[in-house]
Parts: sequence; structure tokens; C-alpha cells
Amino acid sequence: MAYIIALAGKGGTGKTTTAALIIRVLTEKKSGSVLAVDADPNSNLAEALGVKSTANLGSILDQISAQPDKIPAGMTKERFIQHQVQTAISEEDGFDLLSMGRPEGPGCYCYVNNLLRGLMSNLIDNYDYIVIDNEAGLEHLSRRTSRQADALLVVSDPTSIGLKSAQRIFELAKALKFEVKKSFLLVNRFNQQLHNDRIKDTGLEYLGNLPLDAQVEKLSLAGKSIFDLAAAAPVLVAISELGERIWKRN
Ligand SMILES: Nc1ncnc2c1ncn2[C@@H]1O[C@H](COP(=O)(O)OP(=O)(O)OP(=O)(O)O)[C@@H](O)[C@H]1O
Ligand SMILES: [Mg+2]
Repeated sequence: MAYIIALAGKGGTGKTTTAALIIRVLTEKKSGSVLAVDADPNSNLAEALGVKSTANLGSILDQISAQPDKIPAGMTKERFIQHQVQTAISEEDGFDLLSMGRPEGPGCYCYVNNLLRGLMSNLIDNYDYIVIDNEAGLEHLSRRTSRQADALLVVSDPTSIGLKSAQRIFELAKALKFEVKKSFLLVNRFNQQLHNDRIKDTGLEYLGNLPLDAQVEKLSLAGKSIFDLAAAAPVLVAISELGERIWKRN
């Protein structure tokens, strides 16, 4: 049964970078099969992982709803969709990737979200780890596409405003009864000026921080992947150490 790690946080805090770092470390540890889920419709997890082109679930569902008569005779719509969804999962070196995308069709969301819940429960049986990179903010929590996680990782910048926002995200997650076993605060782009009181106020368990890393900025500018990062890169060293607390099953 998969151990689910979900990333959340306000825009630009480093969710995708952190998700990609976690995926790299899990992949290199060879501790089990890994599914990376890009749940951000403006997705860029694939790019961060060096995956060139991926089918996405949204466009697959659009194709199905545009041509409903394409469903093969003798197959239920649900079965057909399930099968098509499998084609949205790409097999990469050391991990699989599922990009959610966003269906363009009207009124699709409810249906897609219901479908995703069913899909998730299937996937949970098929992988050892699932790492979900969510879109910024609170939207995805209120839509509750991914309703459970073993570890929720809220990524924040070190500012007081950033930490307040991490607190709001955590409070909403609790209010929505998002089923989470462990919830952590990860402070990214650490710059020595941490507001300790604010960290406490978030109510989250403080995991630690990731340093501002010039190598990450360089990669990002050059359009390279997290796998191009040198093993000694400060962010990679940091996430390897902090990671044990994230993915330790207990
Ligand atoms: N520790 C770091 N050091 C240097 N640059 C970083 C660090 N973390 C993230 N970045 C850079 O900051 C930018 C935003 O990071 P990222 O895309 O991971 O944030 P995000 O939270 O996923 O954003 P969005 O809300 O748009 O999805 C990227 O260009 C990334 O390379
Ligand atoms: Mg992102």
C-alpha cells in the first residue's frame, strides 16, 4: 500500500522543486516503486523531473467526452475511462508520472474529481510511494481530489506572511477533515531570518528548511531537471536528511 506524500503551499514557495527532490531521493534509494502525480493544471513537475512530453488526464477525458460513441461495444464507460487513464501514466527511469491537467469541457470538475478518487484508490495498491505536487493555495484542498495523505508537507518561504499562509492552509486542511497522518512545515529559501513564533503559530510540526541554492536557480533558468543537480547540491543534501521523517512509516 502506497505511502502518500502531498505537497501544499502558496504560489511559488517551492512545492514543485521539493516534490521533484523527494522523487529523486526516493528513486535513488530504490526503496520501492514511486508514482509522481502532477496535480497542478499549470503543471511543471514533469519538466522539473526532465520528462519531455506527457499525456494528461484532462485532455484524455476531453477526448472521451467529445466522442462518447468511441467507447468500444461491451465496455462500460467507467471501464473504458479506467483503461484510458492508464495511458496517462508514463513510465520513466525509476518512477512513473501521472499528469492531471485540466479538462476543458464544461462541468467536468465534479465528474473528474469523483473519478480521481476512484483512481487514487487503485493506484494506492500499485505503488510504494505516491508524491503529489498540488497547485498553489487552497483550491485543491476544498475540491478534495486527494483526500488522504500519510504526510502533508506545507512549503513556505521564511517570511511572516508566508508562514501565516501556511497556517491557513493547515487550518483549512483540518476543517475539511483532510485525512493526514503527519503534517509538516518545510521552510524553503531559508535566509537565517526565521520568525520562530510564527512557526509555532502554524500548528505544523517543523520539519526544517531548505537553503536558497544557486544551483537550483541555474537549473531552472537552463530548463534542466532535478536529476541534473549535483549530488552535493545543498538542497539535495538537506532533503535527504529531512526526508527520513517525511517517509518513515510508523
Ligand atoms: N531552495 C531553492 N533555491 C533556489 N531556487 C529555488 C529554491 N526552491 C525553489 N526555487 C526556484 O523558485 C521557483 C519556484 O519554485 P517552484 O516552481 O518549485 O514553486 P511552486 O511552489 O511549485 O510554484 P507554483 O505555486 O507556481 O506551482 C523556481 O524557479 C525554482 O527553481
Ligand atoms: Mg508548482
